[in-house]
Amino acid sequence: MDKNSIHGMWSSRLAFILAASGSAVGLGNIWRFPYLASDNGGGAFVLIYLACIVLVGLPIMAAEILMGRQGRMSPVNTLRKLTREGGHSGGWTVIGWIGMVAAVLILSFYSVVGGWTMHYTWLYIAQIFGGPPISDPVATFTNLLASPGTLIFWHTAFMAVTVAVVAMGVEKGLERAVKFLMPLLFLILLGLLGYGISTGNVGQAAEFLFTPDFSEVTGDTLLAALGQAFFSLSLGMCGIMTYGAYLPRDISIPRVAVAVSATDTAVALLAGLAIFPVLFTFGIAPAGGGPGLIFTSLPLAFSDMAFGIPYAVAFFGLLFVAAWTSSISLLEPPSAFLVEMGNLSRRTSAIIAAVFIWAIGLVTALGFNVWQNVRVFGRDLQGAIEFVASDLMLPIGGLLIAIFAGYVLNREVARSQLSHLSKAGFAIWRFLICIVAPVLVLVVLGFKLFG
Ligand code: PFF
Repeated sequence: MDKNSIHGMWSSRLAFILAASGSAVGLGNIWRFPYLASDNGGGAFVLIYLACIVLVGLPIMAAEILMGRQGRMSPVNTLRKLTREGGHSGGWTVIGWIGMVAAVLILSFYSVVGGWTMHYTWLYIAQIFGGPPISDPVATFTNLLASPGTLIFWHTAFMAVTVAVVAMGVEKGLERAVKFLMPLLFLILLGLLGYGISTGNVGQAAEFLFTPDFSEVTGDTLLAALGQAFFSLSLGMCGIMTYGAYLPRDISIPRVAVAVSATDTAVALLAGLAIFPVLFTFGIAPAGGGPGLIFTSLPLAFSDMAFGIPYAVAFFGLLFVAAWTSSISLLEPPSAFLVEMGNLSRRTSAIIAAVFIWAIGLVTALGFNVWQNVRVFGRDLQGAIEFVASDLMLPIGGLLIAIFAGYVLNREVARSQLSHLSKAGFAIWRFLICIVAPVLVLVVLGFKLFG
């Protein structure tokens, strides 16, 4: 008999797909992917990225979901249960711990950037009602970073809306939120795309994004593409594993994994097709974007273009919604863990986790101003946290998940969770998870650490 999770269950396949896509689609798609693509040879990067999604992302996503559904608990306790049931070393529980610590660290800075999206949405909404225009976008952005009070205010607001959802539980909180927010996100994205098409520069944007220029491809391109695949699909930190714990047994894992990966990839490409036409129309160079692409280059265009202000509200609103549904999935694992550990209610657990992560977020917020000269690993504070969490912990977590699912977990357990796969399909998954994914991740990690 298959048990349900004590935390609740998704009511349908669609609910899971929306929630997991909500986790995957985030700042990584709308802000990071377009500038990575433009900095790394456009179409060549996109091709390599697609290969990473199919060869590494998809099999690891299936592994995370199946482990979650087998364990039905937060990552740490799921791993405890799986190792106990299978008679494996309890040391593998470290996968759950790495995942949870990575989630805490990522959310701590993700929430600060999520706060920026709220701040900008607010600035543009205020303009509709006669507020001051953003005449010097670079100064506006620099001033924001220089002001601890403003940063902390919006960081707090962002964490508050995140914990409000998680505190209400899987069905009444997470599922209800994504069923409303994800359609809204798609609607805004299509609207922005329509605007881009009507300005007539989508062709140039498409050429820029899809014409492969292999001369710009280096070892770093592969690193960037694989790292982005992990970050964008929310893999390696057990967030998708946690969502898998709430997935009803009769739903096909391969099918939902393909749906989520395809949605995530489509949104990244569509975001590129929506953003670049605007930049091209106003002759703004996209290369070397970084955080500035969104927060300084685009506002430059907004002040000149027709319907610039409503466009800006829609754009930063889109960014906010995308960041919000991702941060929900980052707060869920530690919250579920606290529920399992103590006799705490979900609400109390979610609030404790959120306050703890909010406090760590202060390091990022203050790192932009008060502590701007502090360096860790040769990086500023936000950069250091991001490096440890996304560049190191996600690939290490992903590698361990692949090894565990491929070599440690009882083969029959994996087979029964992936019962919707044909015999050949299962053999392909085994090949990818046992050989292709670990080798590629190891190469990337090696380069990152020693290259
Ligand atoms: N996938 C999110 C993005 O692309 O912005 C970021 C993220 C969310 C990473 C959740 C990891 C995670 F667990």
